Amino acid sequence: MIKKVAILANGGDVSGFNAVIRGIVKTAESNGVECYGFIEGYRGLLNNNFIKLDSSSTASGILHKGGSIIGSSTNANVFNYKVEENGQVIYKDLSDICVENVKKDGFDCVFTLGGDGTQKSARDFSLKGINVIGIPKTIDNDVACTEITFGYNTAVSVATEAIDRLHSTGETHHRIMVLEVMGRYAGWIALESAIAGGADICLIPEIPYDIKIAAKKIEERKKMGKNFSVVVVAEGAAPKGGTISVENVRDNGTGVDNTKLGGIGNRVAKELESLTGLEARNTTLGYMQRGGTPTAFDRVLSTKYGAKAMELALEGKFGVLAVIKNGRLDCVSLEDVVGNNKKIGAVSGNTAESNIRRVTKDHDLYRTAYDIGISFGE
Ligand code: F6P
Repeated sequence: MIKKVAILANGGDVSGFNAVIRGIVKTAESNGVECYGFIEGYRGLLNNNFIKLDSSSTASGILHKGGSIIGSSTNANVFNYKVEENGQVIYKDLSDICVENVKKDGFDCVFTLGGDGTQKSARDFSLKGINVIGIPKTIDNDVACTEITFGYNTAVSVATEAIDRLHSTGETHHRIMVLEVMGRYAGWIALESAIAGGADICLIPEIPYDIKIAAKKIEERKKMGKNFSVVVVAEGAAPKGGTISVENVRDNGTGVDNTKLGGIGNRVAKELESLTGLEARNTTLGYMQRGGTPTAFDRVLSTKYGAKAMELALEGKFGVLAVIKNGRLDCVSLEDVVGNNKKIGAVSGNTAESNIRRVTKDHDLYRTAYDIGISFGE
């Protein structure tokens, strides 16, 4: 019998966190279950810092709000946590403290809202005997085993609006307008917004590009009398035989992906300008993609995920991730989500060992983009 549950939101924020929290809380209340929220993700679990969530006070009026009412942490890997001892920085596995906290306060289930790193830690807690249920969050849409993550649709909408706006200024001044979007090592945001916004070129991490081939597309357009072009570049895109562009490497501690991607948009703009003779400008969209109110689609998806996760808890199905499979709510084992990333506590976040979902050439979105002549620079 489930009586008391807790929610934690972890990783970079997305629009839709609050809608998921509301979905869980409302479904919990309908079933006589008490709900709590750990503050700032796994850090809250470690520090035993939580608040009561209920739909008449703390979790009221939050459906349309961006951010997270219980915060989120991007650097709390409790299996390899950065601490200072005797003036020295060391990394410690503090997960047993978290396990004790869950047991001490009698939480029958912990809902983990997050991307692949968060779900890996969730799987590791499940191996330690904690009842966990994951919900796939990220604007990058790269969590394995689900067709869509919450927050992604809002990011695509923001990127699409940006493309529309770049389109008109590019057309006026006969320029190449480059838009750098997020997505880390997956090109979903770039691909879907390029289709939605009618971009001419789309460069994504999954398809290393040849800048000369991209420039050829712009030359072809020039021949047709179109003296402007719109290019969408995913932050993780790289030229054939080249490397990804990194803004800096942050000290987030070991076991957390600490690479801040960025800079590819400027590089692509400069190269296209010199190859085509057209002026080029880059816009880096950045955190606009994560903040603010969720789209109607994300509000509904987030509510569905929240309600489903609570249903799973009531059915006693733990160690799973709520997913969308063939367009319908379902669940899969966290083991399948984490994939080959087996080592407990060693790695968190997108890394070489991650099992993330990337764009493939047999996906409808790639096929559609290809069919309508969007160039991938390949
Ligand atoms: O994973 C979501 C995301 O927004 C990525 O698209 C981006 O690379 C990264 O997070 C930025 O992380 P941070 O918030 O740590 O700067």
